[in-house]
Amino acid sequence: MGDEEGLACGVHHALGGHSIWEHHDQQEERIYMDYNATTPLESEVILAITEALHDAWGNPSSSYRPGRKAKTIINQSRENVGRMVGGQAEDILFTSGGTEANNLVFHTAVKHFWESWEEAEKKGQEKSHLNGKAILPHIITSNVEHDSVRLTADNLMKEGKADVTFVPVSKVTARAEVEDVMAAVRPTTCLISVMLANNETGVLMPVREICERVRSLNKQRPAPRILLHTDAAQAIGKVRVDVQELGIDYLTIVGHKFYGPRIGALYVNGPGTITPVFPMFFGGGQERNFRPGTENTPMIAGLGKAAELVSSHLPQHESHLRDIRLYLEQRLQDVFGMEKIRFNSHFPGSESLPNTCNVSILGPGLQGQRVLSSCRRLLASVGAACHSNRGDRPSHILLSSGIPAEVAANALRLSVGRRTTRGDVDLVVEDLWETVRRLEGQD
Ligand SMILES: Cc1ncc(COP(=O)(O)O)c(C=O)c1O
Repeated sequence: MGDEEGLACGVHHALGGHSIWEHHDQQEERIYMDYNATTPLESEVILAITEALHDAWGNPSSSYRPGRKAKTIINQSRENVGRMVGGQAEDILFTSGGTEANNLVFHTAVKHFWESWEEAEKKGQEKSHLNGKAILPHIITSNVEHDSVRLTADNLMKEGKADVTFVPVSKVTARAEVEDVMAAVRPTTCLISVMLANNETGVLMPVREICERVRSLNKQRPAPRILLHTDAAQAIGKVRVDVQELGIDYLTIVGHKFYGPRIGALYVNGPGTITPVFPMFFGGGQERNFRPGTENTPMIAGLGKAAELVSSHLPQHESHLRDIRLYLEQRLQDVFGMEKIRFNSHFPGSESLPNTCNVSILGPGLQGQRVLSSCRRLLASVGAACHSNRGDRPSHILLSSGIPAEVAANALRLSVGRRTTRGDVDLVVEDLWETVRRLEGQD
């Protein structure tokens, strides 16, 4: 059964601090453990969106009351989103989502490269050919990024607009190691983009250390400076994210991963002044021309509320997520035994997201997709939602992280949320146990 069918026949929505279960006659309660795919909206977020729909319908660029009201709400949200990541309101550009934010960074980096290079060429410092080869901007990223980074980079390469190095993550730590990233730097490198937390393994990448090294390198080399980006979609709302501590130029924010709506934002350290932004769209001047288009006031209101909730409750959320995930791992070990379980989210020397348990139940016929489609209660996935049409092929992210193919084939990505309880965990583990017995023909 696909997720959509599962959701239609009885699912757990976390609203307003309560778990609401819609029962269906013969169906058992469904338990959602796919919070890395998306999260439900908090009730305060729904309220903020609804109020904005009613009261702030005016065009935010209009000077009369409904327009001014919309502008005020947008400004407040910008403050909240900025504060959530340790930045200023002026550093936040609202976008349609994470995919757009990531694309905007890559587009900017290439444009910025050419602008700085041409500038330097005019001064006679640079040449458009190096050893007879045409110069191309060079981008470094990892081989476990979300498709909105991976395919953007791929496309730039395919169109001959950039060279890209996909630094392989270590098969021991599952991290893009600092030395490997630094070793890939070339005189033409214009962007380094490494995600803050991986969506499948939950592994936290050494972004702060990479930024530190690149910043000191930037001081020693001529233009173009290497721009630094991190996709923080999976980290926000689960662990502390602070742009000052990271020393990052751009950071991608995705509302629907932290109980907000399906829009996003890009943090830019001083857009257009300290850090370049070249728009992909041209239009009515909104978002200081960096991302024009009449603002989506209600969704921006919701994003601001979701950000405010993260800022005020992160320590409680983080410790709850960790507690529930550790309990889940313990129960899985107790019920199945250590020999039958492999955690694909435990890597020596690496820290990981508090809510992500990527686990394989070993044995023939226990492929992740097969187990999930036989479960009666559990709603989870085998990996990133954008790879859901990969069938039984193991996740390339797990394989790249050193997980053997036969283990990766059985992977289940269980990601818990703010209101997942120990009771939910007990039911899910029981469901998995019964499913595995059925599939192994013991029942
Ligand atoms: C790491 C990561 N980056 C980017 C995105 C894309 O965000 P959006 O769905 O808002 O385009 C996602 C969401 O699936 C993600 O997990």
